[in-house]
Amino acid sequence: MTAYPVGTVSDIPPGSSKIVDVNGRSIGVYNLNGSFYAIRNLCPHQGAALCDGITSALVTSDRPGDFHYEREGEIVRCPWHFWEFDIKTGCMIVDPKTRTKKYDVTVERYEVSVDEENVIVHV
Ligand code: FES
Repeated sequence: MTAYPVGTVSDIPPGSSKIVDVNGRSIGVYNLNGSFYAIRNLCPHQGAALCDGITSALVTSDRPGDFHYEREGEIVRCPWHFWEFDIKTGCMIVDPKTRTKKYDVTVERYEVSVDEENVIVHV
């Protein structure tokens, strides 16, 4: 396992993200309420830079006209055709079998490092 330094925890405060390059792969690292997640910055639909998309809430509904906004900031919307993905899993919201690669994140001291298989965040 080779870790690639990509920054520090203070570079990615809660509610923000950082796009990093790891060995030629673009990866979005997200801080969701103090927990770190990382997904490939590549939309499985037609290859857009997925992590350039806005983050939003998961919108659910029990019946027409009744909407619920849950998990604010945990969904990223592709900037090209607006497919939505769960940042925690990399899975598409309406079709979880469609996904972008998710990387495991480990928090350690001060540095953020990325491995091809794992994203290691040092605090
Ligand atoms: S390229 Fe992402 S939704 Fe089409």
